[in-house]
Amino acid sequence: MNRIGRKPARSTGVLILAAGQGTRMESALPKVLHPVGGRPMIYYILRVANALKPAAIGVVVGHEAQAVKDEVLQIAKDCGIVRPIQFIQQKKPLGSGNAVVESIPFLRKATGAMVLCGDTPLLTYESLASLQRIHEEQKAQATLLTARLVHPKGYGRILRSPTGDVLRIVEESVATPKEAAINEVNSGAYCFEVAALLAGLGEIGAKGPKAEHFLTDILELVRNKGGRINAHLSSTPEEVLGINNRVQLATAERIINRRMLERLMLSGVTVLDPSSTHADADVEVGQDSVIEPFTVLRGRTKIGTRCRVGPFCFLENAQVGNECDIRLSQVRDCRILEKCSIGPYSNIRPECVIGPRAKVGNFSEVKASRVGFGSKVPHLSYIGDAEIREDVNVGAGTVTCNYDGKQKHKTTIEAGAFIGSGTMLVAPVRVGKKAVTGAGAVVTRDVADGTTVVGVPARPFARNGAKA
Ligand code: UD1
Ligand code: CA
Repeated sequence: MNRIGRKPARSTGVLILAAGQGTRMESALPKVLHPVGGRPMIYYILRVANALKPAAIGVVVGHEAQAVKDEVLQIAKDCGIVRPIQFIQQKKPLGSGNAVVESIPFLRKATGAMVLCGDTPLLTYESLASLQRIHEEQKAQATLLTARLVHPKGYGRILRSPTGDVLRIVEESVATPKEAAINEVNSGAYCFEVAALLAGLGEIGAKGPKAEHFLTDILELVRNKGGRINAHLSSTPEEVLGINNRVQLATAERIINRRMLERLMLSGVTVLDPSSTHADADVEVGQDSVIEPFTVLRGRTKIGTRCRVGPFCFLENAQVGNECDIRLSQVRDCRILEKCSIGPYSNIRPECVIGPRAKVGNFSEVKASRVGFGSKVPHLSYIGDAEIREDVNVGAGTVTCNYDGKQKHKTTIEAGAFIGSGTMLVAPVRVGKKAVTGAGAVVTRDVADGTTVVGVPARPFARNGAKA
């Protein structure tokens, strides 16, 4: 109580444990940086932590600390997280209990603490908000999120008294066969009264084959000091999945993908075959678009309304306007404006802007180029470093010869030009407005507006058949 008789306001700090090496991943990359749904694992827990509106977020780092810090700061920037983030350096990987001991200065700043693991990306905001609410309503000293799993292997098991009170958590590495048969597990997410947590922390001893300090021992210590421990059983057990190896990583990927596709479907997108469709966590698709089977949408891909994408498409960081049709094609780091038709078998590479109402078709590759309004590259062409303005038809098998072995050069094709089949455009070169190139022309010099050129090397062509 303070002088005017009110309790001091409760404040909560969220602590994310992310210092572990992740030995079981067998990887040079720190575990929490492994991507799931196109984002590093730690992105998910950081976002949920922020949504809980804590006073501050602490992240315990150790293994590859700088890389983890950099990524956390990048995520905070991307997601507009303005809450203070404090990094705590765990000097030695002595276990989750030791990671929390190292965080005491951070924990002291608030009256409540929520402790989360960086390797549990599926935990939902709803469950953690309920955990916090129940903890506060019931005025427990510690409340943990648990789940009943068909296969509890690898998790800490929850030991309860005959009347159902939580007694302690036993880690699998030190569990008896009878304890290991318990299927209620610890999610690794807890709420603590900071005073009770601090009182017990110093007493956690080293245990198990690696002589680690298990944070989970804290519960029994809190209880022994007369504290009350509560458990909140998750109603969606799959959310507690902790990722320790790449088999679990693949399981998490599948679940995040399913959640993502369900979100898209419920917002008005038809996904014909969710089992063969993948969408990363940041993908956006507009209403009444249809995603056909065997389609992978990666990164910041954004698709407009009434599009058809697939079957067999790979889009990565692609911005697609409304009413586009993309089939059996790859589209990366570029923009497709509205009402375009792409594919089958097109490769639209980075830095392209296609359309509106343009067509890139069968076996055509386009790189760092602009294909203007209504223009067509329908068959077997390579277009690189080119500016193709509106209403241009590029005949089958046309190539922009953009590379001289040292440097890339630009090709410009002005509005209304007609490029004959098999034209080689030796860059740098400009084809003028409404100019025409004959089939098989090798264009080594600029073509004036309205002129027709033919041959090798291409020369202006007069209608009476004489070369001009
Ligand atoms: C832990 C829990 C287990 C629970 C499971 C849920 C302990 C002892 N056990 O087991 O009860 O069922 O999570 O997924 O906590 N970490 C550090 N520093 C360290 C060691 C670990 O920061 O020295 C971090 C890791 O980066 C990780 C978290 O703590 O984010 C959990 O460590 P991990 O080794 O994955 O524990 P589990 O064996 O999965
Ligand atoms: Ca884990």
